[in-house]
Amino acid sequence: MNGTASLVNSWNEWDPLREIVVGVADNACFEPREPGHRPQLRGKDGGAFPTGPKPPEMIDRANEQLAGLVSLLRSHGVTVRRPEAPRLAEPVRTPSFEVPHQYCVVCPRDVMITVGHEIVEAPMSRRARYFEYQAYRKLVYEYWNADPRAVWTVAPKPSMADSMYREGFWEWPLEKRHREMHASEFCVTQDEVVFDAADISRFGRDLLVQESMTTNRPGIRWLKRHLEPRGLRVHPVHFPLDFFPSHIDCTFVPLRPGLVLTNPDRPLRKGEKELFLRNDWELIDAPRPVSSDDEMPRFCQSSAWLSMNVLSVSPEKVVCEEAERPLQELLDRLGFEVLPLPFRDVFEYGGSLHCATWDVNREGSARDYFP
Ligand code: ARG
Repeated sequence: MNGTASLVNSWNEWDPLREIVVGVADNACFEPREPGHRPQLRGKDGGAFPTGPKPPEMIDRANEQLAGLVSLLRSHGVTVRRPEAPRLAEPVRTPSFEVPHQYCVVCPRDVMITVGHEIVEAPMSRRARYFEYQAYRKLVYEYWNADPRAVWTVAPKPSMADSMYREGFWEWPLEKRHREMHASEFCVTQDEVVFDAADISRFGRDLLVQESMTTNRPGIRWLKRHLEPRGLRVHPVHFPLDFFPSHIDCTFVPLRPGLVLTNPDRPLRKGEKELFLRNDWELIDAPRPVSSDDEMPRFCQSSAWLSMNVLSVSPEKVVCEEAERPLQELLDRLGFEVLPLPFRDVFEYGGSLHCATWDVNREGSARDYFP
């Protein structure tokens, strides 16, 4: 980095990557059941979802694949930083909620976001993830101390009290789910500001924010009022066929200016496509994942569409999960250099390649792709 460039600088999901944070699996626990989350085992043999710390062999396997991502990125000239995992296995008690233990610090994407020269810590939507930002504070201080232009913002923390959730949500019959979906009502109410950073997708001056189980309307309103006076535009988006929406990066994935990878099972709400069509962007459906949802790892709570959770090293170069050959072939036909990498052992920690990272620096500046 030369003297005039900013250390904190990232405006979109695809510009050439210079510095990124990759999560760590150390100290990870199984995600606890709570009003905002009901973890379930995959497959038919049933049984209760485990609680407490994950077995060391499992953690080692995930750490090995995370280390694989770190070496791959370094070999492409990217600076990679890691958080330090705090202790996560103890109970957490605040004035408004208690939870038996925390989860993990594998997915910085869900918690942290760089918007231009600004680092934003998300409020979060689940109790077990309320304090996850702490794992990144040391890095945030470093960036903030080193870069006089860097702005650091902590979004308002919600109470996560019982009243913030609709616990009945998990038992809604299909018909009700359908009705409420169209009103975008999920497990969090609309009384407090709630969002996870991974519901945001950055396109230069424009940001899409998905309304979901992890982001509500006050959350989007907060982002709008915070970012729009800085010359950015915030667009709420909806994918009405996704009954359990959370985090946009398995649903709508921009790869370079003019091209978004879309999820054929989760079309964008009518009318919300216009922004893209008017500006001649291509929306290309991803091929189906190679696994079915049932074939996903036993403790994984994400859908098989983790296949789409690719990480851009540049507008020409994309890291893709090793097994997802059909997607790799599509990317190849679209002119990308594909870097395949095994990452399946990370899935049960909340995501894949994009989720497990937080880009702090990508070349480029605030461009207007939707004039
Ligand atoms: N809800 C998504 C799915 O199951 C998974 C999103 C993972 N993304 C993340 N940033 N943790 O399709």
